[in-house]
Amino acid sequence: MTTITQQQWIYRRQPVGQITAEHYELVEQQLSTTLGDGEVLIEARWFSVDPYMRIGQSTKPTYDTDPHPLNTVQQGAVVAQVLASNAPGYAVGDWVQSYTGWQTHARVHASGLKRIDPALAPVTTALGVLGMPGRTAWFGLTESGKPHAGEVVVVSGAAGAVGSLVVQFAKRHGARVLGIAGGPAKCDWLRNTLDADWAIDYKAYSDADTLGAEIKRLTGGVDVYFDNVGGMATDAIIPIINRRARIVICGQISQYSGGLETPELGPRLLHHMLYQRATIQGMLARDYLHRMDEMIRIVAPWVKAGGIVFEETVIDGFAQLPAALNSLFTGEHRGKLLVKA
Ligand SMILES: NC(=O)c1ccc[n+]([C@@H]2O[C@H](COP(=O)([O-])OP(=O)(O)OC[C@H]3O[C@@H](n4cnc5c(N)ncnc54)[C@H](OP(=O)(O)O)[C@@H]3O)[C@@H](O)[C@H]2O)c1
Repeated sequence: MTTITQQQWIYRRQPVGQITAEHYELVEQQLSTTLGDGEVLIEARWFSVDPYMRIGQSTKPTYDTDPHPLNTVQQGAVVAQVLASNAPGYAVGDWVQSYTGWQTHARVHASGLKRIDPALAPVTTALGVLGMPGRTAWFGLTESGKPHAGEVVVVSGAAGAVGSLVVQFAKRHGARVLGIAGGPAKCDWLRNTLDADWAIDYKAYSDADTLGAEIKRLTGGVDVYFDNVGGMATDAIIPIINRRARIVICGQISQYSGGLETPELGPRLLHHMLYQRATIQGMLARDYLHRMDEMIRIVAPWVKAGGIVFEETVIDGFAQLPAALNSLFTGEHRGKLLVKA
């Protein structure tokens, strides 16, 4: 039997706050390369690192899934290349996307693969603008946010994978866009590269009232709030929403590291929803999986023509995966965070 050395990151322990060495274990073993009917051997080249991984480490069911099982490979999306194939239509060297998680190699049935066309865009975009984050940004904005030309759209987590796309999609709808992000460099990037009308560094504010007052001064009020972070940013914005505002709850990353089990308590803000006859809606990318082709038909030509900035921050090395996941919470990256095998 021929084998290949396979490395895997095994999720061992549920973290309460930050992820450390005790929560994952790197294991190495031999993987048989003998392929069954319809099977393909793949080697991962790029790993996606996403905040939902941390949500899956809650002790309680979230979304519509149970917590990530302990003692199994960390789940996640990868971009891989075919090393050997026993499946019609797949040849050595083909690029594919799969959900085989944090392992260097895997034997998978071809039905679990999605083909990537490297002529369409760089293959890494399958994990970013033409993948799950793109779908989240597009359908979250267009189906829940429904921005009109001239309206004010505020995006938190605006320099990240989803947020940076929401900023650009909202501009394409003719909205005036304010991005909230951590630090002056990210804010400069939002204004100068993504063409946001305004950018605010939330770290320069110690409370929601002063942050909200500044956003109100700049924008006059908020028609659409695309919320990626929750916490202080959300507490700042809800009191300054306009009549019939739409609030899209995409993520609450400020609450994931520690707050999943014991959520932070905030002010009671729902009366503003009443005064302004506003709508608040949670959105989940998974619910739009069947409309992926529709999103790609619209967004891929923009990507190909250079009309969308799809920044990627790359961390080098399979060994760095748990540290990379942690870094989502310190916010050193811009755009989509990827780990290169
Ligand atoms: N609903 C869905 O289907 C769906 C799908 C994908 C993602 N999401 C959610 O969307 C959000 C963004 O995901 P992403 O993949 O695009 O990640 P990302 O924005 O690329 O990375 C996370 C960013 O969150 C910010 N952040 C971290 N801790 C924070 C805190 N305590 N307060 C404020 N900001 C904080 C950091 O940026 P700063 O430097 O600006 O702080 C960091 O760069 C997450 O909440 C995620 O769970 C939801």
